[in-house]
Amino acid sequence: MEKLKVIVSERIADEGIALLKKELEVDYRDGISRDELLSIIDQYDALIVRSVTQVNEELISRGTKLKVVGRAGNGVDNIDVDVCTRYGVLVANTPDSNTISAAEQTISLLLSSVRNTAWASRYLKEVKWDRKPFRGVELYGKTVGIVGLGRIGSMVATRLKSFNMRVLAYDPYIADQRFERFGVEKVEKLEDLMGQVDFLTVHTPRNEETMHMIDEKMFALAKDGLRIVNCARGGIIKESAIEEGLRSGKIASAGLDVFEKEPAEGNPLFAFNNVVVTPHLGADTFEAQKRVGETIAEQVIKALRGEIVPNVINLPTMVSDELDYLKPYITLAEKMGMFYYQMAKAPLNKVELTYSGPLTMNETEILTVAFLRGLLHPVMAEKVNYVNARLMADERGIVVFEHKEEQSTRRYKNVITAKMFGNDYTLELAGTVSRARNPLLVEINGYETENDLEGYVIIVKNEDRPRVIGPFATALGDAGVNIASMKTARKTKGDIAIMLLNVDNKAEDHVLEALGKLDGIVGKPKLLYF
Ligand code: NAD
Ligand code: MLT
Repeated sequence: MEKLKVIVSERIADEGIALLKKELEVDYRDGISRDELLSIIDQYDALIVRSVTQVNEELISRGTKLKVVGRAGNGVDNIDVDVCTRYGVLVANTPDSNTISAAEQTISLLLSSVRNTAWASRYLKEVKWDRKPFRGVELYGKTVGIVGLGRIGSMVATRLKSFNMRVLAYDPYIADQRFERFGVEKVEKLEDLMGQVDFLTVHTPRNEETMHMIDEKMFALAKDGLRIVNCARGGIIKESAIEEGLRSGKIASAGLDVFEKEPAEGNPLFAFNNVVVTPHLGADTFEAQKRVGETIAEQVIKALRGEIVPNVINLPTMVSDELDYLKPYITLAEKMGMFYYQMAKAPLNKVELTYSGPLTMNETEILTVAFLRGLLHPVMAEKVNYVNARLMADERGIVVFEHKEEQSTRRYKNVITAKMFGNDYTLELAGTVSRARNPLLVEINGYETENDLEGYVIIVKNEDRPRVIGPFATALGDAGVNIASMKTARKTKGDIAIMLLNVDNKAEDHVLEALGKLDGIVGKPKLLYF
C-alpha cells in the first residue's frame, strides 16, 4: 500500500524525522518558500511546522488531502485553528516538551542582560580588554514580578527563588493555592505589580488581552531602571515602549527572545548595547528538540492512523455514533465555558454543570470537557484540549461537579446549566441548541433570554423604565456598531433589568465607557466574543 505523505516545513530533530520515516513518506523541506509550499501542499496528508510557517486559510484550503497539522512546539499563534477546524484538519502540538528549556532561557536572558554579558563578550573579542562600561547588578535580594504563573512562569519562579529574590506574580486566572505552592506573593492588579518590582518577566499566551499589556502607561508606574525579559511572545511587552524606556533610562536592560515581527531583522531594539537578543531560542536545546520532534512525530502518526491523539487542540478525538448528535451541544458547552473569564477577572473555585433532557442518554463527559476547554483555553496559552482540560482545571484548583436530569424542567427539551462560583463572583447560565442547531443562551443569572452565542455579544444592566433602551441603541448606532438582535429581560417590573445584544462589529472600550454613563444604564457594558 502507498505510504501517506508528510511535509515538514521547518527544522525538527533527527529523532522525529526517523520516527516519521518508519511509517510515512517524509518530505523534509526546512525553510521551503511560501510559494512552493502553497503550490505542493495538495500532495500531503500531514504538515509539520514550528513557529514560522503561517498555517492560514490560504494554505489549508489548498491542502485538499491534509488531515493533520503538527506543531512542533507549544504556541499555535501561527496556526489559524478555527480555519483548520472548519476544514476538518486536526491540530496537535507538544505543549510540555519545551517548558524547562524556555524557563532556563528566561533565566539566561535575565542574567546576561543584567550583567552585560553579550555586550562585554563582543567588546572583548572585537575591541579590547575593558571593564568599566559593563558593571551589572545582582539578583540577590531584589524583587521580581512574573506576569503569568502557568507552566513556564512557575518554573521561572522556583528558579529565581534560589537566587534569594522576592517573587511577586500577577495572574488573575489561577487559584490562590498555586501562588502558595510556588511560594510566590500574589498581586491583584498589574498596575500594583509594576510599581514594586526591580525585574519583570512575562509568561502569558499572546492574545487580544495580552498583546501590548505592558506598554508606556505600565512603564510609567515602574521604578526607574527596571530590567525586563520577554521569552514568551513578541508584543506582550510593547516594543516601541521598550525603546522609549531604554532611551529615557526607565528601562536599564532587556532580554528578548521573541519579537512582534519574526523573523526579526533590523529591529530598532538591536541598536542598544543593554539589550540582549536571541532569535526565538527558548525551546532550542537538544533535549527539548528531541522531545518535541519525537512527540510530534508520534502524534501525527497516531492521527493518520485514526487513533486517539493526546494533544489535539481543535477536535475531540472521540469518534462515535454519538458524536454527530452531540456536536452542537459540544459547541454550546464550550461557548458557555467562554463566559466566565470574559465577565470577571476573578479566580474560579467551583463549577456545577447540569445536563437535562434526552441528551443525558449519551456520554456527557465530552460536554464537561468542552465546557472546561472553553473556560481555560483563552487564558492558558494553547495547550488546553479535550484530553487534558479536566486535568488543567484540577491543577488550577477548580472543582467540577456534574448532575444529570432525565427531563428538563425548563421549556426546552435539552438544557445545559452551568453555575460558576468564584471568590466574590457567581455566574449562572442555561443554554440549549436552536432549531438551526446553533448554541443559544436561554438564561443568565436568573434573567430569561434567547441569544445566539456567536460573534460579539454586549451585556448591560439597565433601570427598567422608559427612555433607557432607545437612547442606548441610538448611541451604539452612532458609534457605528450594528445591532443584529437584542433581548431585554427583567425579574420584577421596575427593578434592574438586563439587555443582551448580538452586534455585528466590535464596540471599542471607549464606546463601552460612554455607554455606561448614559442615563439609566447601570455600570459599563461587557463585550463578550464567542
Ligand atoms: P501556560 O498556559 O502554562 O501559562 C500561561 C499563564 O498565563 C496561565 O497561568 C494564565 O492564567 C496566564 N494568563 C493568561 N492571560 C493572562 C493575563 N492577561 N494576565 C496575566 N496572566 C495571564 O503557558 P506556558 O506554557 O507557561 O507558556 C507561556 C508563554 O511562553 C506562551 O506565550 C508560550 O507560547 C511561550 N513559549 C515560548 C517559548 C520560546 O521559545 N520563547 C517556548 C515555549 C513557550
Ligand atoms: C513554542 O511555542 O513552543 C516556542 O515558541 C518554541 C518554538 O516554536 O520553537
